[in-house]
Amino acid sequence: MTASSTPKHLLIVYHSKTGKNGRMADAVYRGVRHPDIQVESRYLRAADAGPDDLRWADAIVFGTPENFGYMSGALKDFFDRTFYEVEGQVDGLPYCLFVGAGNDGTGALTSIRRICNGYNFKEVTEPVVVVGELQDADLVRCEELGMTIAAGLEAGIF
Ligand SMILES: Cc1cc2nc3c(=O)[nH]c(=O)nc-3n(C[C@H](O)[C@H](O)[C@H](O)COP(=O)(O)O)c2cc1C
Repeated sequence: MTASSTPKHLLIVYHSKTGKNGRMADAVYRGVRHPDIQVESRYLRAADAGPDDLRWADAIVFGTPENFGYMSGALKDFFDRTFYEVEGQVDGLPYCLFVGAGNDGTGALTSIRRICNGYNFKEVTEPVVVVGELQDADLVRCEELGMTIAAGLEAGIF
């Protein structure tokens, strides 16, 4: 970043009930705040995020458990609450996903991607999907996800 440039804005929106996705989100956030990468970030639970956060964002990371073959109700509620408020104001925003599921995760991915198509967001990196018990290596992948989207945003790649 040059002295005159303004840092880009990265938003993390996630839900976690029993903590797995919370630990994954913490790791993503660590990656976003890597000392060599200069972006401003907001790190919010889905219930606390709203349309102003989307308008503020230059890129987004969404994270959720898979519940009943779908994203969590809290993340769906975030989309329900924001879609019409930001329609036409957030076209082309880059995003990426992480899902901490029990044994699958594809339903969460598919459902988020379908909705993100409606917002005209564009997915820019492979998602991190963790089934079963969360391992240290999974947290490393989450941290790398955060670094990747933050670095790409800072560099103007996305
Ligand atoms: C009501 C409910 C429904 C679930 N449905 C699925 C599912 O369809 N597929 C799956 O892989 N895991 C499913 N799970 C497991 C959760 O995705 C898993 O426990 C996840 O790690 C929870 O994340 P959290 O600790 O961040 O809340 C379900 C869990 C609950 C409580």
